[in-house]
Amino acid sequence: MTLEFLAPWYPTLKALHIVSVISWMAGLLYLPRLFVYHCSAEAGSVQSETFKVMERRLLRAIMAPASIATWVFGLAIPLSGAIAWTDGWLHAKLALVVLLTWLHHLMVRRWKEFAADANTRSHRYYRVLNEGPTVLMLIIVFLVVLKPF
Ligand code: HEM
Repeated sequence: MTLEFLAPWYPTLKALHIVSVISWMAGLLYLPRLFVYHCSAEAGSVQSETFKVMERRLLRAIMAPASIATWVFGLAIPLSGAIAWTDGWLHAKLALVVLLTWLHHLMVRRWKEFAADANTRSHRYYRVLNEGPTVLMLIIVFLVVLKPF
């Protein structure tokens, strides 16, 4: 399926997609770092309350809109006809981005626990969580630039 009127906008859609990706990735890489330090802040302390504000703003003002924009502009590109829906690299990329989106929602669940002073996980758990988006980003970017299949 393609929408002809989108065809001339392909370069603009790709630019908007890359800007959204950068914003989303910045949040996915930074939020687990905040969780690592939040683990050692006492519940109810000024430090813990400050982390809560930082986490909420990062999630709501940056990560949520950027993730939606990444999907909208990412899907608008094949809709414009510039890229074929049948390309193998696009299927592999979409599967990895679904995993990245799952990680985003896992972080939302952890944030809600911190917001309720109910986090039970260690800083080591969040250091490992931090590696997830890094590894996925590396594979996704090589897939879309090299288009190996
Ligand atoms: C959310 C679902 C996504 C869809 C449907 C999608 C789809 C696409 C498509 C069709 C292109 C155009 C490729 C071309 O013109 O050659 C593209 C470009 C790109 N995408 Fe995505 N993408 C998504 C998410 C992501 C994510 C999460 C990342 C990074 C972690 C990413 C990184 C890139 C980059 C760097 C480009 C530019 C590649 C180039 O200019 O050669 N995309 N994407």
